[in-house]
Amino acid sequence: MVDTAAPSATTASLPDHSVVPTVWSRITNLDVDRGEGSWLITRDGERYLDYSSGIGVTNTGHAHPRVAAAVAAQATKLLHGQQNILYHEAGLRLYERLPGLLPGGPWQAFLSNSGAEAVEAAVKLARAATGRPAILAFRYGYHGRTAQTMALTTAKDVYRAAFEPLPGSVYHTAYPYCYRAPGGPHALDACTCDWEAQLDLTFHQFIYPDRVAAVIIEPVLGEGGYIVPPPGFLPRLREITREHGILLIADEVQTGFGRTGEMFAVRHWDVEPDILVMAKGIASGLPLSGILARQDLMARWRPGTHGGTYGGNVVSCAAANATLDVIEDEGLVANARVRGAQFLAGLHALAGRYPSIGDVRGLGLMVAIELVKPVGGDGRMPDPDLTKRIQAEALARHLIVLTAGTYVNVMRIIPPLVTTAAEVDQALAILDDSLAAAGA
Ligand SMILES: Cc1ncc(COP(=O)(O)O)c(C=O)c1O
Repeated sequence: MVDTAAPSATTASLPDHSVVPTVWSRITNLDVDRGEGSWLITRDGERYLDYSSGIGVTNTGHAHPRVAAAVAAQATKLLHGQQNILYHEAGLRLYERLPGLLPGGPWQAFLSNSGAEAVEAAVKLARAATGRPAILAFRYGYHGRTAQTMALTTAKDVYRAAFEPLPGSVYHTAYPYCYRAPGGPHALDACTCDWEAQLDLTFHQFIYPDRVAAVIIEPVLGEGGYIVPPPGFLPRLREITREHGILLIADEVQTGFGRTGEMFAVRHWDVEPDILVMAKGIASGLPLSGILARQDLMARWRPGTHGGTYGGNVVSCAAANATLDVIEDEGLVANARVRGAQFLAGLHALAGRYPSIGDVRGLGLMVAIELVKPVGGDGRMPDPDLTKRIQAEALARHLIVLTAGTYVNVMRIIPPLVTTAAEVDQALAILDDSLAAAGA
């Protein structure tokens, strides 16, 4: 029976925040009641422009009515339909639909729960399909917090340093980070980074290429600092991996589902991976992830060698199907391109006025500024304190933005793909005020 006298969610007192373990480092203490589009609304009725998108998840905005309706309808019919035991309509429709999102292939999908779990699946499949042991990852990369994915991750010490020993047969090589190239920053289309020579050295110093099962790469580095690669990098990496029979795994957990202005970021460079990892934006917030892999690789994965209780949860699949409908029907991939260009132009204008903005970069609605100390050294000394102050000033003005980067001196902005021109202008005005208030 419903107790109509019970206090509403917004008036009942909440437990103290100390019930939540501090291992969840956090950037706000907001008690949020609900979300609508680009906005979060606290229990006090305060509205915040959420340009974190829950770390790149709510591409369709918070609680999109079509996604919410699909979840509600599914939840009244079946909450759990275990994949080893049965087929369900929402899953079958999604398994049929996902391969069509990426040209080439032919592809088959595998569904799991989190980004890290999908990276684990990609690594297991690569090893099973090639019979080779080693995995090669890039410096500054981020792939998750499970043991295997920590071993792949070098974005920041905190993600791995306290957890040695980590799984072996993982090697790291240089990523072309053009702003931090030795000898000074250079333009992406004039890249002089020696990543290819470093890769060759890796093959000569650490591991034979014919022992490498896969190279894993984020097409645009996320946690490592929103680093966009130079145009020739991914196509050349694809050639090299093919020469050595190495599989290419594109980790599109953060870049996928329209975020960069293409459904998947590899499309910007016309590169076809062998395995693509997806999560975050796939289901608008419900836990779901997966991989797309070439069918011939999937066929080499012996039944029972991978799986899990909750993978491809039926409610999450219903949310994903509705999410894909919304992305298509509302033209969100195109909106990411247009609003992203608007944001980048605004940030470039701010960089002309604030010398602490060392670099402006991004692709689609994955945009960032790198904050530095412009005087002393080579003018690129990371300034994490300033970055933190700007983030706090923005929050005080009701804009939520995240940080990133090895030295935590990158302000990263991840708006939902439904965001409007007026909201982007509002965010830019808040950032302008916040930079000034923080002494940039
Ligand atoms: C590129 C990338 N890969 C993997 C992950 C891990 O995903 P999850 O946090 O869902 O495990 C993330 C999360 O931020 C990510 O950005």
